[in-house]
Amino acid sequence: MSEPVRPRPIKKAVFPVAGLGTRFLPATKVVPKELLPVVDRPLIQYAVDEAREAGIEQMIFVTGRGKTGIVEHFDIAFELEQTLSERGKDLSVLDCTRATPGDVIAVRQQVPLGLGHAIWCARAIVGDEPFAIFLPDELMVAREGGTGCMKQMVEAYREVGGNLISVLEVPMAQVSSYGVIDPGAANGALTEVRGLVEKPTQADAPSNKIVSGRYILQPEVMRVLENQGKGAGGEIQLTDAMAKMIGTQPFHAVTFDGARYDCGSKIGFVEATLAIALARPDMGAEVRKLAERLLA
Ligand code: UTP
Repeated sequence: MSEPVRPRPIKKAVFPVAGLGTRFLPATKVVPKELLPVVDRPLIQYAVDEAREAGIEQMIFVTGRGKTGIVEHFDIAFELEQTLSERGKDLSVLDCTRATPGDVIAVRQQVPLGLGHAIWCARAIVGDEPFAIFLPDELMVAREGGTGCMKQMVEAYREVGGNLISVLEVPMAQVSSYGVIDPGAANGALTEVRGLVEKPTQADAPSNKIVSGRYILQPEVMRVLENQGKGAGGEIQLTDAMAKMIGTQPFHAVTFDGARYDCGSKIGFVEATLAIALARPDMGAEVRKLAERLLA
C-alpha cells in the first residue's frame, strides 16, 4: 500500500509591513506600527517568534518607505553590543533578534495598493512553495502551556494540506470591518471554507467568523493576484484572491485556541499591553497592584 502524500512543509513566511498605519498617527509618522512595543518587544518580534515556533525558517518582509527599521531589528547592532559587553551587561536579551544569515529577506512595495498587492510583491522569493502569511498587528497569544496560532495551523495543514486561514468569532455588529467566511462542515477546530467576503454588510455576511491575520497558502495564489483588480476600499484584496481558489484546492479555517489582540487599533493595543504585562512572571503582580490602584 502506498503512503499518503504529505503536504510540502511550510518554511517561508511573508510579513506584509508596508501599510501606512493611519490609525496610529502620529506615533507611526516615523516609527513603523510593527515596531511599536507591547511591553518590551516590538509587534514584529512576537510574529517572528510565532513563525519560528512553527518551524518556519525564512522571513520575508514586504516593506515600504520608512520601514527599514523592521529589517534592522533582526540585524546585529555592533556598537550597541560592543558597549553592552564592555559594561558587563547581559546580551542574551538580544538573542531573539538574531537571524541565520540569508534568512531575513526584504522586498519593497513601492505604493501601498493593498494587502493582496503586498503579498504579490513577494512572489519571486516565495517561488513555487506553499508559504505562511503573518499580519504582525494581530497579536496571537498562546494559552499557558499551549502552542502558538501558526503551530496549530501547521499541525492542521499536515492533515488536510491546501490552504488554511485562522478565524475567530466576533459579534455580528462588527463583521463589516473584516474578511468573513462562509462556513461548511466543521470538525473540531477545523471548518471547511465554502466562500469568503471582504467587509460585507451585516445583512450580507455569511457568518460571524472573521479571518484573523494568519494564513497558509499555496503558491497558485500569486497567479490569481497577478490578474486581480481592486476590491473593497479600492485596494487589491487578498480575500478576493483566496475566494477564487476555493473549489480548486482544499480550503479550511482553523479556530485558534488562544487569545488574539487587534493591535492595529488603539483599544486592542492597550488590551494586549495589559494582558501581556499581567501574565508576565517578572512584572504581573506589580502591574495588577498598579491597575487596582488606578481603578480604585
Ligand atoms: P491594515 O489594514 O491594518 O492597514 O493592513 P495599515 O496601513 O497597516 O493600518 P491603518 O488601517 O492605516 O491604520 C493590514 C496589514 O497589511 C499590510 C499592513 O502593513 C498590515 O500588516 N499592508 C496593507 C501592506 O503591507 N501593504 C498595503 O498596501 C496594505
